[in-house]
Amino acid sequence: MKTILVTGGAGYIGSHVAKSFLESGYKVVIFDNLFRGHKQAVDILKKFGDVEFVQGDLRNVEDLQNLFAKYEFEAVCHLAALCLEIILKVRLIY
Ligand SMILES: NC(=O)c1ccc[n+]([C@@H]2O[C@H](COP(=O)([O-])OP(=O)(O)OC[C@H]3O[C@@H](n4cnc5c(N)ncnc54)[C@H](O)[C@@H]3O)[C@@H](O)[C@H]2O)c1
Repeated sequence: MKTILVTGGAGYIGSHVAKSFLESGYKVVIFDNLFRGHKQAVDILKKFGDVEFVQGDLRNVEDLQNLFAKYEFEAVCHLAALCLEIILKVRLIY
């Protein structure tokens, strides 16, 4: 089974994208620091297929080295972001 890495997969967009990959028959590994994401979203995704959760931070090189040493990914879908903070800052400027 091909494996897709979804960074930010415990977040809003990432969890929906992960569900879509699972429904298409891929195994999904979710990498998220849970700063904004929810572990419950990952638990719900287990109903749709083979999903594993790795808690880690994209800014931590060791977290990434461990992740890529453990899994072989067909593709990476990068959806980890701090978008809400940017929106709030823009509102503050206005
Ligand atoms: N929400 C929307 O309507 C929308 C629309 C278009 C595009 N997008 C884009 O999709 C992306 C995700 O947005 P979202 O709404 O799902 O946000 P979200 O906050 O729900 O999800 C982002 C996830 O990234 C994780 N994360 C943040 N920093 C991390 C880090 N350093 N390491 C690991 N994980 C980290 C958070 O914990 C969270 O689970 C953003 O790039 C956003 O601009 C969102």
